Amino acid sequence: MQATGFLEECRDRYGSIFTLEISQGRTVVLSSDPTVAREVLTGDPDLLYAGQGNVVLRPLLGERSVLLLDGPEHLRQRRLLLPPFHGERMRAYGERIDAIAAEHVARWPVGRPFPVRDSMQAITLEVILRVVFGVEEPARVAQLSAPLRRLLDAAVSPAQMLLLQLTRSEGTRPRAPWGRIRRMMAPVDAMIHEEIGARRAELAAGGSGRDDILSLLLEARDEAGAPMTDAELRDELMTLLVAGHETTATALSWTLERVTREPEVLARLEREAAGGWADGTAYLDAVITETLRLRPVVPAVVRKLQAPMTFGGWQLPAGVNIAPSIWLIHHDPGLYPDPHSFRPERFLGRRPGTYEWIPFGGGIRRCLGAAFALHEMRVVLQAILAAARLEPTAAAPERIVRRFVTFTPAAGGRLTVAAKR
Ligand code: HEM
Repeated sequence: MQATGFLEECRDRYGSIFTLEISQGRTVVLSSDPTVAREVLTGDPDLLYAGQGNVVLRPLLGERSVLLLDGPEHLRQRRLLLPPFHGERMRAYGERIDAIAAEHVARWPVGRPFPVRDSMQAITLEVILRVVFGVEEPARVAQLSAPLRRLLDAAVSPAQMLLLQLTRSEGTRPRAPWGRIRRMMAPVDAMIHEEIGARRAELAAGGSGRDDILSLLLEARDEAGAPMTDAELRDELMTLLVAGHETTATALSWTLERVTREPEVLARLEREAAGGWADGTAYLDAVITETLRLRPVVPAVVRKLQAPMTFGGWQLPAGVNIAPSIWLIHHDPGLYPDPHSFRPERFLGRRPGTYEWIPFGGGIRRCLGAAFALHEMRVVLQAILAAARLEPTAAAPERIVRRFVTFTPAAGGRLTVAAKR
């Protein structure tokens, strides 16, 4: 049985809150209740830690990553990072994202199925390098992409992560797994520091008029007026890369996997694209919203209790991990009739309830890149629809497989292009 079917069976048998043993001795309290989700996600961040749960990423992200910190330190980093990710700002990046996507789609084969996820990953990686890191020259993008891809592939697998964590103390031995990752990380770190140095130099020489996120972060100041150090910038850039690239690539792959199985949805998108989106992107946005509901990339968000607390009528001791289940909330038949069907109309003219649709988590840890990701998805999908006619398929839905903390399509979102435009 798929893990998702198991979760739904637990909910049907035990109700909206239950404890799951995820591995020997490691338990998590899952809740499918949006009210509990709101209480957990908006609860006191000093009592509900999130960073500890991501500790397995520390070798890659570093000590100062916003994903790993809690309490006042987390708040400081988050406040520094947040302004460049404001929804309004995202429009400035549309043209760059469109050009990157169009270039990749032009290379897709015609009449032959292929897994679209690799291409989506290449697009989202390039988007981060250009829009977040501010790298412009194609040769430099390519120079950075290859070692980064190798590093991420080697590091971000569940087994590898566990191994890294267990063997970190042996990290100086070149053969130890951590040593291997560290060797792969060295050239990547060097290049990231070169980019930081270059952007700093431009700023010192009187500003560059650049609008990439790194340039904006260099000017950020905390409440005491202090800028971010190079070490902090390195960790946050790596964090944005890891948090923002695979997740968005997977969400895009699921969108294409879904729409090619729904000929009417695909036909409507193609009509709207052919009409130059004259009526706006409400339908495309509903398609994206419904994909993130039906196939949430991250199936749960976890908080660790620092003191005894009560949720859903249950008193839970300190140390318990509580997780609003994004999957179960999104598949609640009371909130979403016929919850396993892909029906973008659910969201036409209706915004989802705040804690009934939580693909980006919520509260003080809500995904920093949510507006970025939604904008990127919109622009990439528009670029695809403009350049290629996609073939609908009668193939069964792709199974869901876990890749680190994400749910991805088992066959990588196999797709056939009927013709290029
Ligand atoms: C569809 C794509 C994406 C999905 C589904 C997604 C999902 C999530 C989720 C579920 C969380 C945890 C929230 C919580 O614990 O309440 C998160 C955190 C985060 N995401 Fe995303 N994300 C996506 C794209 C991005 C992008 C594009 C970026 C940046 C470029 C990004 C940066 C971050 C960061 C920095 C955090 C940590 C926030 C904190 O701890 O304060 N994400 N994301």
